[in-house]
Amino acid sequence: MNKNDYIYLDHAATTPMRQVAFEAYKKTEMDAYANSSGGHALSRKAKNILEESREFIASCFGAAPNEITFTSGGTEADNWIIKTPFIDKDSSAELTTTQIEHEAVLASAENVNSKGFNVNFVSCDGEGVTNIDEFKKSINPNTLVASVMYANNETGVVQPIQEMSKIVKDINPNALFHSDVVQAVATKKLNFHNLGIESAAISGHKIGGPKGIGVMFLKTGYKIPSFLHGGKQELERRAGTVNVSGVAGLAAALKEQQNNLEKDVELIENEKTIFENYLKENIELRVVGENVERLCHISNIQFKDINSETLMVALDLNGMGVSRGSACASGAQKPSHVLEAMKVDEQVINNHLRFSFGWNTQKGDGEKCAEIVEKTIKELS
Ligand SMILES: Cc1ncc(COP(=O)(O)O)c(C=O)c1O
Repeated sequence: MNKNDYIYLDHAATTPMRQVAFEAYKKTEMDAYANSSGGHALSRKAKNILEESREFIASCFGAAPNEITFTSGGTEADNWIIKTPFIDKDSSAELTTTQIEHEAVLASAENVNSKGFNVNFVSCDGEGVTNIDEFKKSINPNTLVASVMYANNETGVVQPIQEMSKIVKDINPNALFHSDVVQAVATKKLNFHNLGIESAAISGHKIGGPKGIGVMFLKTGYKIPSFLHGGKQELERRAGTVNVSGVAGLAAALKEQQNNLEKDVELIENEKTIFENYLKENIELRVVGENVERLCHISNIQFKDINSETLMVALDLNGMGVSRGSACASGAQKPSHVLEAMKVDEQVINNHLRFSFGWNTQKGDGEKCAEIVEKTIKELS
């Protein structure tokens, strides 16, 4: 199949790499392939690219360069920040997170829990917004880390991050407030310090950068144990030869993204609205999180009588790639933990699909995609 005929509406899973990111990656791999920790001219060239990229990436989030450590992606950054602070603590230390986090956070939290620490998994309301009162009650002088995602990857629903950070700091100024911003940075401009975010996980492949590169942001003043042990790379924080080409690709992707963010967000928001309105007029459905703030690129739709797996396969055959938004366990359709936390009725919990737009979405895509969904549903009924 000609790839241009296939409609990709799964940007929340991963985005196609931007040409500028690919060029920067390739150029670094060709011209600055040396180990950035070495002592010769080619190593210095790689080191310069690394440090210039770090400076630029930091500036995009209002951070200082030494607050940025490169990782293999969002999963590593989340694991690092959630698990390692507990390594040398006694069992009174606590973790607070939410029931709707990405698996990278949830599984890390479960790991902390398995070591004997108390973990509070805060619930959310029917729109997918974390219950603030319950969150507040879970924070206490023993809280070591509180972790809340900026926006959910399945529904796009934005969490009251600034308010939650303030709650944590008011109750326990020593607790670390972490936010998984992996999905949010795709279509939001974030200033970590202004938002009260003290550590964050970022992933390159959600913004048109390469896969396998990410960022762990940690506010100056905090120190956490290393996650990977070995060489003394990345200011002695993370062992392993640095993926300088990936870093260069991420910086190039971020540069293009930041330059176009305002107009891209306007276009994506517009196309997503056209998409949702068209479908609402022609099919019986519910748009998740419609009454609260959502990321502009994610549309999670609950269909009335159609199983999402069936619809996903039929859409694929009709040339459109979408996903349910959560991983399926070995072929078995496991309901989404996010929708379960939102107490979605079990009759319809497996009728949800996530449509996610991205940086290469074009004018007209909203209507075109809605027509394909409508046609596919009619074929199925
Ligand atoms: C919210 C969120 N956190 C973390 C991750 C994991 O990021 P990575 O694929 O870079 O490990 C993802 C990717 O799906 C995500 O959406």
